[in-house]
Amino acid sequence: MPHRRRGHGLDLSGRPARSASDRAGERAARARRLRGRPARRQRARACRPCRLPGGVPPLRPGPASRAGAQGRAERSRHPCRRRAHQSYGGGPHRAVDLRARRSGTGVADPPELHEAPGESRLDLRALAAGSRRGRSRVLDGEPALLESRLRHPVEFRRAGCRPGRSRPRTPADGTRYRAPDVQHREASPGPGSLDELQDGRADGPPGSVGVSAPVEPRNLPDVVEPQGERIIAPLPRITIQAFCETPGVVEAISAAASDRRMQKAHLKVQMGGAPAAVEAYRHNPTPNVIVLEFQGDRTGILSSLDQLSTVCDAGTKVLVIGHVNDVVLYRELMRRGVSEYLIAPIQVLDFIQAASELFAMPGAEPLGRTIAVAGAKGGVGSSTIAHNLAWAVAKSLSTQTVVVDLDIAFGTAGLDFNQDPPQGVSEAVFAPDRLDANLVDRLLSRCSDNLSLLAAPAMLDRTTDLSETAVDGLVDILRNSIPTIVLDIPHTWNAWARRLLVSSDEIVLVATPDLASLRNVKNLYDLLKSARPNDQKPRVILNQVGLPKRPEIGAADFAKAIGADLAAILPFDAALFGTASNNGQMIAEVQPSSKTAEIFTSLAAAVTGRMEPRRPRGGLLDPFISKLARRKVS
Ligand SMILES: Nc1ncnc2c1ncn2[C@@H]1O[C@H](COP(=O)(O)OP(=O)(O)OP(=O)(O)O)[C@@H](O)[C@H]1O
Ligand SMILES: [Mg+2]
Repeated sequence: MPHRRRGHGLDLSGRPARSASDRAGERAARARRLRGRPARRQRARACRPCRLPGGVPPLRPGPASRAGAQGRAERSRHPCRRRAHQSYGGGPHRAVDLRARRSGTGVADPPELHEAPGESRLDLRALAAGSRRGRSRVLDGEPALLESRLRHPVEFRRAGCRPGRSRPRTPADGTRYRAPDVQHREASPGPGSLDELQDGRADGPPGSVGVSAPVEPRNLPDVVEPQGERIIAPLPRITIQAFCETPGVVEAISAAASDRRMQKAHLKVQMGGAPAAVEAYRHNPTPNVIVLEFQGDRTGILSSLDQLSTVCDAGTKVLVIGHVNDVVLYRELMRRGVSEYLIAPIQVLDFIQAASELFAMPGAEPLGRTIAVAGAKGGVGSSTIAHNLAWAVAKSLSTQTVVVDLDIAFGTAGLDFNQDPPQGVSEAVFAPDRLDANLVDRLLSRCSDNLSLLAAPAMLDRTTDLSETAVDGLVDILRNSIPTIVLDIPHTWNAWARRLLVSSDEIVLVATPDLASLRNVKNLYDLLKSARPNDQKPRVILNQVGLPKRPEIGAADFAKAIGADLAAILPFDAALFGTASNNGQMIAEVQPSSKTAEIFTSLAAAVTGRMEPRRPRGGLLDPFISKLARRKVS
């Protein structure tokens, strides 16, 4: 029989004495809470000079820590690289072959593309011999030097971007993404409504019960807080047992059980209220969370809780649902150790949020928002859209963002962001035992101030038949530290991809205006909508619209067939997308004023729950003035 200490779950007067070590631990925890400081371990972490998305310097010297002159010299001395140089004899030869390959002129593929799968990465790197001039030549439409991008990604990188090498990520002013300051405010001892107390209207003298109430934020960095849909952390693997008294509450809690955030939690709902709970736990251990509904008044509720305390295990959290809005009752409940008090009728999300917050650490970083981007079929542009979307969130909304390229074998995020990190997503996914926040920090490569990348290795030396939960740990770690996580999901239908889609905060489905795309996107849309009844519906983007000579399904018909509005329609623009793709740039970097770049900015605002940044209204002559300015530049 498991060891149990009765009466310790609720902090009740007259309950049995606790052990000395228990009391000391509780005193220390309480002192920390009162001082508003995290525990020692947390403080140690928070003090580290570089945090996500920049990462921290590697703990052990490895490939990542050798970046710089010495590292480059070492790499260039590597026998594999020397061999590759010898076999291809420099850039020009390679340039012709690659250009021909891209333009489809039928010139034979270079021999290295036919090598064994495991060697492909080595060969691409072995081409390192180019110069930065190659990039401007591509932009100018001169002979394409794609090989030079494949050769020397390090040299092409924008200022400060170094794959696999961390550098301090903290902005110069020391600010990082953080939630508005929340301080403990003292509530008045007199009677009043709970709403008043939570609004801060029931302020009173010090000495009464501390209630968390938001006060005016001070010295906040320029961060726009997400609006609209609330972000609720998924619950950990806990057991919740609810004892209700009314059908309305039973219904709400039962509905919560099928919510995606409760996937890991085990929830059991029954009628009978507190008496049934006392009876049930007389001979059985209590779960992680007990939910009790009370229809009675203050005295009845408190005496029932006193009874429950005699059978409640230590560590069990109690969430009370009552029908009275009474601040004195609220204080009494908090004093007795009740974790949360909700007033019926309750909404499904209210309940999930309350349960979720029971396990959120005080002072923890705000939770990240996961945005999964998937294509209705291969090649529809889902990765391109994921990368541009992430870039827009990072750049236009100044929000720390990470792109996770989950197309482990063929991912293009590294190419699109002109990065060639030695490590990336595969190290996180294939080594779940080693996975922690430090490792993830080290795997991130920095693309710009607010944007980091977990790149795919693009190697074929191992297959990617992952388990259903293989990516969960990585996403959980990222969620704890980065506000926006864009998941570039490959066009595959397996357990982990499905799970990621279902469990993401936002879903973007990308389709092209053809029949196969329409069928697939409709299937995906319907499945995800029904699997996530309490969430924002997937957003559908129609891409590559207006491809010359291709018969297309009209946007209106497409939307009607799916039964949803289209979130965006992106035109087919071979020159713009081709240039961006070949140069390792984003659309907004190639053509900042293009309609397509604007669409990405609006989309970024929508998926992160922000208001779209307002731009000043232009005058009538603005189009002519900007045209004139463009002419002058050219
Ligand atoms: N609107 C567009 N106009 C022209 N070209 C586009 C457009 N959108 C994407 N592309 C191009 O289409 C190609 C495929 O894009 P991308 O790799 O993003 O597709 P994907 O759906 O991720 O493919 P996969 O199924 O292989 O993962 C890229 O070369 C990209 O530049
Ligand atoms: Mg892709």
